[in-house]
Amino acid sequence: MSILIFDSGVGGLSVYQEIAKQLPELSVTYLFDNALFPYGELTDDILIQRVCDLMQRALKKWSVELVVIACNSASTLVLEPLRQMLAVPVVGVVPAIKPAAHQTQKACIGLLATPGTVSRTYTDNLIRDFAPNVQVLRIGSSELVKLAEQKLRQQPVAQLTIDEILSPWRHAEPKPDCVVLGCTHFPLLNQEIEQALGADVMLVDSGAAIAKRVESLLGDRLTKERKLAIYCTEMNQEVSELNPALSAMGFSSLKVF
Ligand code: DGL
Repeated sequence: MSILIFDSGVGGLSVYQEIAKQLPELSVTYLFDNALFPYGELTDDILIQRVCDLMQRALKKWSVELVVIACNSASTLVLEPLRQMLAVPVVGVVPAIKPAAHQTQKACIGLLATPGTVSRTYTDNLIRDFAPNVQVLRIGSSELVKLAEQKLRQQPVAQLTIDEILSPWRHAEPKPDCVVLGCTHFPLLNQEIEQALGADVMLVDSGAAIAKRVESLLGDRLTKERKLAIYCTEMNQEVSELNPALSAMGFSSLKVF
């Protein structure tokens, strides 16, 4: 019994970590598309085509029970075509607007995501449906995505840069008291984001909810022989620098898809 987790980069590992907490015996194949990273800057057509092609090829190569699109930028666009195309359940990750709208005391939340996700109709609809009486401030940043990758390559991340990216909210009035991490890369920078915004700002992501969803779809069909494999779409020096962090998470060494 195995599942496939997919993202443009290492962000989906934040979702993997939640799934592993909930289902420690589950085998996981993790695939990331570093060749076309970052997804938050691709046009809709290219992104839809690319993710559908990769998933079709991946499911020919691996037999998995379920696919997690651990990427908000892709999920807010490609879930429908994917579900029509694939024979297994597809779990998407989209911004946690609903829980944030429930938790805010100031009726003001922040959505921190990629440029793609913050401008999608899907996101507008989430806000319309689940946060109608809440002010939603948006920041779309690919730089933050790249910093998360950098952190996993075990390189230093400049707090000052993160402070600058988040400066519109640091000085906003009202300041959001709840921030949705609407990109799976961002929980990897939890500490740095918290330092920039202050400990009084609650950070909300979708990871734990996704893990519950995966568990409920798989039921008790778990095996005891856990295998963790990870694949990228292009091998290069930069991506191979991820190996120490990946092996610390229990993955075998990175291979090319
Ligand atoms: N981790 C992804 C997301 O949740 C994509 C980041 C990117 O490649 O731009 O949106």
